[in-house]
Amino acid sequence: MLNIVIFGAPGSGKGTQSERIVAKYGVNHISTGDVLRAQIKAGTELGMTAKGYIDQGQLLPDELIIDILAQTLDGFKDSKGVIFDGFPRTIAQAEALKKMLAERGQEVSIMLDLDVPEDELMTRLIKRGQESGRADDNEETIKKRLVVYHSQTSPLIDWYKNDGKYQHINGLGTMEGIFAEIAEAIDKI
Ligand code: AP5
Ligand code: MG
Repeated sequence: MLNIVIFGAPGSGKGTQSERIVAKYGVNHISTGDVLRAQIKAGTELGMTAKGYIDQGQLLPDELIIDILAQTLDGFKDSKGVIFDGFPRTIAQAEALKKMLAERGQEVSIMLDLDVPEDELMTRLIKRGQESGRADDNEETIKKRLVVYHSQTSPLIDWYKNDGKYQHINGLGTMEGIFAEIAEAIDKI
């Protein structure tokens, strides 16, 4: 089982690189952000709750997101493993993931930390906002997302270092070059 946590600030390339990992390694992909945006589009109650947080650049409550993740995980049958994109984002979520996988006789294989300078993150997200119209890709909300990343999410770097799963990835450069570094790290597991 290949259980990969793909980690990084907003705009670091988690979704972009997840697609490539899925294509090469045949794992399932779960992006909590994509799940929530699909719920918003479908107009569900969860979607309405999620929209309030996402538009403010804030994280949804841990219990809610952990529940969603557990349900999605149970939906994967005969899986070769999973790439977790946008989860965990807090220490409580990392602990819940560790427990969830242990209950299934599994563990996180590697945590890939896509490291990208802040000015580049802003440039990428502003551009995507103009092209795709993603609601939280505007300067004000991006700044809030970055603050949340630094205060609530970046402590996971040390958490995964202590857990012996941490792998730094230079997230600046071509998408192919970054993927080559990722594949090299995965192939060494
Ligand atoms: P989420 O959807 O996870 O958004 P995010 O973490 O802010 O990250 P993005 O999806 O914006 O960026 P990405 O790293 O995937 O980069 P991408 O590949 O798209 O979460 C959104 C919200 O949902 C949160 O704010 C929160 O409210 C809620 N949420 C989600 N998960 C949660 C959780 N676990 N707990 C609580 N709340 C949660 O790339 C970005 C852009 O850059 C693209 O346009 C891409 O084409 C471009 N790009 C990618 N790579 C490169 C490159 N190498 N060079 C140039 N451009 C590049
Ligand atoms: Mg994404």
